[in-house]
Amino acid sequence: MSATDSTEHTRRDFLYVATGVAGAVGIAGVAWPFIDQMRPDASTRALASIQVDVSGVEPGMSLTVKWRGRPVFIRNRTEKEIEEAKAVALADLKDPIARNANIAADAPATDIDRSAGEGKENWLVMVGVCTHLGCVPLGQAGDFGGWFCPCHGSHYDTAGRIRKGPAPENLAVPTFEFVSDTVIQVG
Ligand code: FES
Repeated sequence: MSATDSTEHTRRDFLYVATGVAGAVGIAGVAWPFIDQMRPDASTRALASIQVDVSGVEPGMSLTVKWRGRPVFIRNRTEKEIEEAKAVALADLKDPIARNANIAADAPATDIDRSAGEGKENWLVMVGVCTHLGCVPLGQAGDFGGWFCPCHGSHYDTAGRIRKGPAPENLAVPTFEFVSDTVIQVG
């Protein structure tokens, strides 16, 4: 296979994955495989952000997108999920830190500080990698109705906070922002 063939295969495969899981991914996300093969420095910049159209994600629905080689969970939470997360006392949390790259490093893991913030607290954006040994947790599963990692039994709640099992930290919230009412930029 020539280098050109190889590049084309990579491109098609990535487009397929992006279409299947996200519906819409910004051009920065689509472009990275080519650059990644040729120029690592450029790939680092291209990987820095992706834009995701969440207009079709109704309450109770989730998307998983690929960002910097890792899955990112984007969930539009139901009122019930939000209320359940809000009802948890900070003292009951295994990891009381928000782990949210968008706010202070020592911010507490309140529901609002785990979410996209005031007015958008229905949205959760989190790196979908278990903080124990790196498996990808299953959504809407486990004892707390959030995420469950079957590898060694870590249970996360509806704000992605670790509640039971060996994982030491809450699921990480990456740098992200709404660049319009319906588009989230991750990174
Ligand atoms: S990797 Fe998730 S519980 Fe071990």
